[in-house]
This record gives sequence, C-alpha cells and structure tokens, in this order.
Amino acid sequence: MSSPLSMNSTIAKFRTKLSSISQGDVCKVLAFLGLTLFMIYVFIFSPPNYQPSDLLTTLKQKFPIINTSPLSTSLSLTDPPTNASHIMFSIVGSMNTWKYKRYYSESWWRPNVTRGHVFLDRSPSAEFLPWSDSSAPFRVNEDIRGFAVYPRIKWPDQVRIFRTVMESFREGDKDTRWFVMTDDDTIIFVDNLVKTLGKYDHKKHWYIGMNSECVKSNFDFSFDMAFGGAGYALSYPLAALVAKRLDGCIERYPHLRVSDQMLFFCLSDLGFTITHEIGFHQIDLRGDASGYLSYHPQTPLLSLHHIDLINPIYPNMDRPAAIRHLMKAGAVDQSRLLQQTICYHRPLNWTFSMSWGYSAHIYEAIMSRNYLKRPLETFAPFERTHAPVFMFNTRWGVLDNPCEAPHVLFFESIERDGEDRIVTTYLRKWARNLPSCASSGNHSAESISKIRVFSSAKIPLEAGGAECCDVRMLDANVTEVNYRPCYSGEVMA
Ligand SMILES: *[C@@H]1O[C@H](CO)[C@@H](O)[C@H](O)[C@H]1NC(C)=O
Ligand SMILES: *[C@@H]1O[C@H](CO)[C@@H](O)[C@H](O)[C@H]1NC(C)=O
Ligand SMILES: *[C@@H]1O[C@H](CO)[C@@H](O)[C@H](O)[C@H]1NC(C)=O
Ligand SMILES: *[C@@H]1O[C@H](CO)[C@@H](O)[C@H](O)[C@H]1NC(C)=O
Ligand SMILES: *[C@@H]1O[C@H](CO)[C@@H](O)[C@H](O)[C@H]1NC(C)=O
Repeated sequence: MSSPLSMNSTIAKFRTKLSSISQGDVCKVLAFLGLTLFMIYVFIFSPPNYQPSDLLTTLKQKFPIINTSPLSTSLSLTDPPTNASHIMFSIVGSMNTWKYKRYYSESWWRPNVTRGHVFLDRSPSAEFLPWSDSSAPFRVNEDIRGFAVYPRIKWPDQVRIFRTVMESFREGDKDTRWFVMTDDDTIIFVDNLVKTLGKYDHKKHWYIGMNSECVKSNFDFSFDMAFGGAGYALSYPLAALVAKRLDGCIERYPHLRVSDQMLFFCLSDLGFTITHEIGFHQIDLRGDASGYLSYHPQTPLLSLHHIDLINPIYPNMDRPAAIRHLMKAGAVDQSRLLQQTICYHRPLNWTFSMSWGYSAHIYEAIMSRNYLKRPLETFAPFERTHAPVFMFNTRWGVLDNPCEAPHVLFFESIERDGEDRIVTTYLRKWARNLPSCASSGNHSAESISKIRVFSSAKIPLEAGGAECCDVRMLDANVTEVNYRPCYSGEVMA
C-alpha cells in the first residue's frame, strides 16, 4: 500500500511538473485535451459508418475499455451450453502431503472428462510415478527464488500458490471459459458447478466464490474474499487480465500471508468484486458437521473443504469411505444432493426433514420451514470466539429437548426404481434416548428405523428450488417419503 509519505512526494512531483509547463506546453496540453475529448466522443457515440483512424484503432486495441460491472447476465445464444470441458481446474497441492490428500480430488476427478492440473511445489517423488490416471495430471509451479522481488516476499509458498492462477491460465485454450481454483483437500461437485457457471456470461469478468462460515475468519481477511479452499471461479477474460497483472500485485503486496488475499487485493485494485455463490463451502468447522450438512442452504452443493477438520460425515466410516459414500448419491443426482425437503405426517404430528443423499431427520412436532432451515449446531467453529460466531442462524441448546431434537437416520443406499424413480434409503444408527414429545401428543418415532425416499430420475431439482413430499407409513418401522413438485403456494409449516 502506498504510504502517506510516498503519496505526498507524488503530489509534489506533479506540482513541479505543472509549474514547469511553459506556454508552448499549454498548447500541447490543449491539443491533447482536444484529442481526448474527440476520443471520448468516438468511444461513446461510435457512429455506425465512421472509420476510425489507425491511431485510434491502435489505442483502442492497446487500452480496450472493459466494464468492471457485469450488469448484463444475458448469455449469447450462439454459444453452446457450458459443460465440464469448458472448465480448467487447478488443484493446489504439495508433495509432502499428497500421499494423504490425493483421495480428495480423486473422489471427484473424472479422467478424460474434467480438465486441469494438480500444481505441486516440486516434482513427484518416485513413489508417485508413474502418475496415477485417477488424479489430475500434475504441474510443478514455477520457481520464484530468482525473482527480484523474492527477498521481500514473506510467505513464498503462498506466492507460489497465488501464481497458479497465471500458470493455469497459460494451460487454457480458446475453449476454456472458466478457471476454477481449489485446494488439494477440496471436494468439487462437477455437475452442479457446470450448471451454476452456465448461468453467467463467461465472456464478461466474473470472480465467483464464497467466504467462510465463521464471522471471525471473514472479519480477519475480508467478507468479500473468495476462500480458496471452498474453491472459486474466474471467467476467462478476468483470468487473462489477472495473469497479466499478477506479478505487479506481488510487487505491491509481498508481505501478504494468504494467497486468497493476494488475489482479492489484486482484483479489488483492478476494480472487480466477488459474486457470492453460497454452495461453495470452506467448512471452517470442527467436530460433528451433520447439523450443517443436513440443513444445506437452498442452492446446489458446489464444494466441501476441510474434511479433515470435521468428523467423518457418515457414522462408522473413515473419511475417504464417507466421501466415496456421498459420491454414490452424487453420481446419480447432484441437483438434489444435500437439498432439504420437508413434509409432515399430521396424524402423528411428525415433521420429516430430508437432506437428499445424506440424512433424514424426524421431529415429533410440526415445525415450520423458516425454523427448520437453520442448521442444528452440532459443530464448533474453527476458532472459539464471542457471538455471533457463524454467518447464518443456527438452532442451539435444543438437542436435549424431546420436541426439538430429531431422530437421525443416515443415507445407506441408492438404486433406480424403473425408469422414472430413484430410491434412496436412510437407516437409523442409534436410539435418540429421550422421552417422546408430550405437547404434540406423545407420539414416539423411536420405532422408525428405515426411510425410503422416492425422487424423480428424469427431472432434476431446479437450482434454488424446493420440492414437497408425502409420508406413507408402511409399518411401525419403515416409512416411505415421495418427493413431488409443490402445489402452487403450498405452505411448509
Ligand atoms: C462441450 O461443449 C463443446 C462445445 O463447446 C462440444 O464440442 C463438446 O462436445 C461438449 N462436450 C460434451 C461432453 O458434451
Ligand atoms: C483416457 O483417454 C486415453 C487416451 O484417449 C485412454 O488411453 C485412457 O484409457 C482413457 N482413460 C479413461 C479412464 O477413460
Ligand atoms: C398435535 O399437536 C397439537 C399441539 O401442538 C395438539 O393439540 C394435537 O392434539 C396433536 N395431535 C395429535 C393427533 O396428537
Ligand atoms: C407418553 O408415552 C409413554 C409411553 O410411550 C408413557 O410412558 C408416558 O406416560 C406418556 N406421557 C404422557 C404425558 O402421556
Ligand atoms: C419395529 O417396531 C416395533 C413396534 O413399534 C418395535 O417393537 C421394534 O423394536 C421395531 N424394530 C426396530 C428394528 O426398530
């Protein structure tokens, strides 16, 4: 950042320049002003039949005008829809930890379908060669030790990671529309990401990502910074611009501690700001994240990060197995994955809240959606701080209340039922160990050990939409839930 001192000296230099302007210079200034006004006229009005001079054409090419506000989101109809081949992924890794982290990206990487690279700090050691086909191909980040700015750099590894934006850009081609940066411990949901990016005009400048779940992390860095672990996307033109200006940013901010902040500063200085997509998840959480994953915001799931900070997301599995289990549902229908669907069994005053492919919760009371969409605070923040801790409302202190604590079932299996329906099954892993809820009729749901959920195999859930459902009790132990479109104006309360 420029200090007040250097600003003062710049102003002083400018004054000196002004005072040294002679009368001849005044004419030059006037001539220059005239030319500038003429150019503004040409840029603004651009008469259709006007042929600009060569000089102006050159100027226009050298300094093309860009609009930093991507106001229009209308897509050009001539472009084919965005698919996975239009995205260039960069997975930022390091050789020392690759052995433990490779499974994360291998869980979502699709050989010969997804494009991109793992960027490493050094060449893979012999144990990783030949490089596995299940991983993205690797690149080794450029060695920055010879750079003039190097002695001023405080955190060289972060600068290496930051420069991945540029090094990945060089790998792109004319078919690349998006550059998506992720960490080596990030899980990406490719189908949802493709659809989400497809909403935006890739020919404009977009910086799309999400901040942290924790107020403090955002306060410490910025509420407007895309957290790289959650993953973020840069449209081609923006990546091109950043690639050109990136080493200049390092010159300006050699002291920064985090690569995501370098990019955020760099983009801010160029006049660009973040567009939040709330399906990217940094997961700055600890412990049992089930209360978060069971009440996902109403938007497609795009990523999960920090799987090692939280307990395995399904009971009785290690972390890699739990991620593979989630991906079994994700391979069939990502549009519904973790999306919340609520329905009621009125005769017993029960509420069902399903997180598709993850969990099913039964409450022994009728609860409205505005309350049920708040995550259950089963988890802790990355760092203990004063309230408010999280960026969203939660339900807390309720897990020993029989009318507020759910019976919890987890996703077990998925299959097709004929052409039209997908069946996901959810099983209870433990008893709730609370009396039943007396105020709503004392109807215990303890006996329900299995829920079968039927959803459409043909019609994906629209982004940001919600479905309704009906409950059918098969017997004392098994319940069926049928997903269906909501009736117009149907109330979930
Ligand atoms: C993706 O879109 C391109 C057009 O840009 C097309 O050539 C290609 O076949 C598409 N790939 C898939 C898998 O649909
Ligand atoms: C990917 O493509 C290469 C070359 O076309 C082929 O040899 C390889 O078997 C393919 N891998 C997979 C997993 O489809
Ligand atoms: C449902 O709960 C309400 C109170 O919330 C109660 O008045 C009603 O009797 C209950 N119905 C049944 C069938 O238990
Ligand atoms: C609720 O039901 C249980 C048995 O299911 C019974 O022991 C208890 O007394 C009932 N409580 C009330 C308030 O009716
Ligand atoms: C099935 O329901 C019956 C009747 O409520 C109950 O006694 C039994 O324990 C239940 N079985 C399981 C596996 O929950």
